[in-house]
Amino acid sequence: AELLQLAQRMPKAELHLHIEGSLEPELLFRLADRNGIRLNYPDVNALRAAYAFNNLQEFLDIYYIGMSVLREEEDFYDLTWAYLERVHRDNVVHVEIFFDSQAHLDRGIPLEVQIGGIRRALRDGLAQLGISSKLILSFLRHLPEAHALETLALAQPFLDQLDGFGLDSSEIGHPPEQFARVFARCRELGFRVTAHAGEEGPAEYVRQALDLLRVDRIDHGNHSLDDAALVRRLTAEGKILTVCPLSNLKLRVVQTMDRHPILTMLERGLKATVNSDDPAYFGGYVNDNYRALIAHLPVTREDLYRLARNSFEGAWISEEAKATYL
Ligand code: HPA
Ligand code: ZN
Repeated sequence: AELLQLAQRMPKAELHLHIEGSLEPELLFRLADRNGIRLNYPDVNALRAAYAFNNLQEFLDIYYIGMSVLREEEDFYDLTWAYLERVHRDNVVHVEIFFDSQAHLDRGIPLEVQIGGIRRALRDGLAQLGISSKLILSFLRHLPEAHALETLALAQPFLDQLDGFGLDSSEIGHPPEQFARVFARCRELGFRVTAHAGEEGPAEYVRQALDLLRVDRIDHGNHSLDDAALVRRLTAEGKILTVCPLSNLKLRVVQTMDRHPILTMLERGLKATVNSDDPAYFGGYVNDNYRALIAHLPVTREDLYRLARNSFEGAWISEEAKATYL
């Protein structure tokens, strides 16, 4: 109970959150209704019942359907605002959120609508909840690099509203090396970059993300543990891993929570953080992830402090801002 309380009340940053993955079924149905969209699920319970996944792809298939109710600027606002209000209760004070711009562009939703709505909510989050934030455009790796390059060109007028770029979606068969050019361009433009790697894919994909994409963080990174030399390198470089325990469980990256490797990561010197990934689909927000770890692993107070400190250390904020949390 003491550990739970500590986890709950610690100030935290969330560094791995897909805003479309925070779309709760209730809001999803409300937006479908508002936009005159008919869903293939009769109600919230039927939709929730479909949230049972054997792997990443089974999740992604339903995740891309879910986000199709997002049409107007107001929808992106409501989505983002609901997330911020929710994590405010978890004592999350800084968030760095991904959005899947290409998925929305392919549905005919302009960047202006997407970024406008998300950014307006982030501004209100700072003003009304004191939550600071960064916004990360995440490229879809199941699409060709040319599509990512076109999206970056389309984003030109909005670059002042973006803080970084990421890489997500179906990992296996879409290695980081396929995105070296678009990531080089993002870095030339002065942006921070991160990539999902080693969630289902091998340690080799983590290596590629480091060597070829020159990422500032690794999202997930679980399979780094299969390669001792890679672990030493990640540790030496102080690279932050944005780990997502409940996501790992729901997508069967780990078989049971008591076998989750996050404490092993810390023991080996890796800078792991705790994040929710897609909380509406995986059964919980940041504190739920801490709760699951505490329930199933021999977590100590020191581990909790370490995880929370790592979340601020890995944040793309100034050293001055970090100092106020560390
Ligand atoms: N992995 C890859 N792509 C994603 C995820 C994830 O966990 N969530 C949303 N898109
Ligand atoms: Zn993710």
